[in-house]
Amino acid sequence: MRYWIMGGGGIGRALAAACVERGDEVMLFSRTNPGIEGVEWHALDNTDEDAMNRVCDELPLPDRVINTVGMLHSDKRQPEKRIEQLTEAGLQEHMRVNTWPTLALAKLLSARMERRQPLLLAALSARVGSISDNRGGGWYSYRISKAALNMAIKNLGVEWARRFPAACVAGLHPGTVATALSAPFRAGLPEGQLQTPGQAAKHLLAVIDGLAPEHSGRIFAWDGQEIQP
Ligand SMILES: NC(=O)c1ccc[n+]([C@@H]2O[C@H](COP(=O)([O-])OP(=O)(O)OC[C@H]3O[C@@H](n4cnc5c(N)ncnc54)[C@H](OP(=O)(O)O)[C@@H]3O)[C@@H](O)[C@H]2O)c1
Repeated sequence: MRYWIMGGGGIGRALAAACVERGDEVMLFSRTNPGIEGVEWHALDNTDEDAMNRVCDELPLPDRVINTVGMLHSDKRQPEKRIEQLTEAGLQEHMRVNTWPTLALAKLLSARMERRQPLLLAALSARVGSISDNRGGGWYSYRISKAALNMAIKNLGVEWARRFPAACVAGLHPGTVATALSAPFRAGLPEGQLQTPGQAAKHLLAVIDGLAPEHSGRIFAWDGQEIQP
């Protein structure tokens, strides 16, 4: 299978390595080269639609696209604990990184796909983006941008079922994974709940391998359980 993996963070790199290990052809798109043997790297800021079109338009379409781009905190911003900490700029930045790249990718793919193309687009979302599951509150920008991503996936699922009935678009929650994204927020996590990126990649690929057009528009956790929006 030919994969495009968007983002070279902890989970993106582990997915790329796991795919190479099982004999898949892998192209990885990220701002810096992770230097994984057997992976064809393309320089790309995945939030930049024009750059994405320039880089991807020259390449044959893959069988599977996995978008691993996302942010919870940055040098400038920490997740909000209360509403007074929310800023317009912070919310916009989260939407740009957590929501927009999947939509930009879907535009690019839809413009090139044929009606019977069995393409899979999987985007890493997060359980905290589930509106019905929200009991803890906080993390406004992250939750809102992932909830918007989930709606984007649902919407695309409806459109693709009409236009590309053999394709599938789905969201995936990777669990809590030991990467830079989760590093400041792992204290107090119950024993055994933290996965290495390699473990998460294997779980996610097992879920992806089981996805078919009837799963389109839906969100699944790393253990295969469906997450309600
Ligand atoms: N780790 C967890 O516990 C956990 C839990 C739930 C959901 N998730 C989701 O899983 C996905 C992967 O997370 P991870 O743990 O692998 O995080 P990570 O190691 O921090 O990687 C983040 C990725 O997002 C990209 N990114 C971040 N900020 C960006 C920006 N301003 N502009 C462009 N690209 C940006 C990075 O791109 P470059 O490669 O180009 O630098 C990198 O590929 C995310 O969507 C995250 O929300 C993770």
